[in-house]
Amino acid sequence: MFDAPFTFSIPLPLPIPSRQDNHIRRRLSSLKGQFLDTAEYKRMLAEEDRLVYEVYEIRRPKVAGELLSGISIVHPGKVGSEFFMTKGHFHTVLDTPEVYYILKGEGFMVMETPEGEACVEPLLPNRVLYVPPRWAHRSVCTSRQDDLVTFFVYPGNAGHDYGTIEEQGFRKLVVDSGGRIEIIDNPRWKK
Ligand code: PA5
Ligand code: NI
Repeated sequence: MFDAPFTFSIPLPLPIPSRQDNHIRRRLSSLKGQFLDTAEYKRMLAEEDRLVYEVYEIRRPKVAGELLSGISIVHPGKVGSEFFMTKGHFHTVLDTPEVYYILKGEGFMVMETPEGEACVEPLLPNRVLYVPPRWAHRSVCTSRQDDLVTFFVYPGNAGHDYGTIEEQGFRKLVVDSGGRIEIIDNPRWKK
């Protein structure tokens, strides 16, 4: 592992970092069970397994004391009335935080604790979001045409626990209600 200090650029409007070690592409098929309108999800998937979001990772050892960072790009789109979003996760080491700096686009970060406390924060360019330890997080892109682009940093040992969210999703959903963005309760969510 390259262990000297390093810099890299994020040459906006192109959000691809000049240094990157891994490019993850997540399509509709990887969000199975997450969108409320399952019939519409199936219909869309049969038509095309659309690209929903991408992540460029700057790799470092996955140990405490390191920081992992990268760029997340959530593309615009909807399944029924629900906006495109990331899978979302708790950190495997629950007691680890994350910082997001919003570079482009608009959306929300949907968050919750294992106890069921929920929080939804708007994501707007030039703003910073601090996700404290223990809060699961999911980015949602609410723009019609623009990608939601964020830069994230989290501890090297954090890990990703997707399983808990895969079971019933987040407590809150971000939906388009006749042209207005609404945050609603997820009817599938039970404590
Ligand atoms: O660690 C994070 O929270 C981010 O890097 C996310 O991994 C990224 O936004 C993609 O989301 P997810 O890991 O939920 O698929
Ligand atoms: Ni995270």
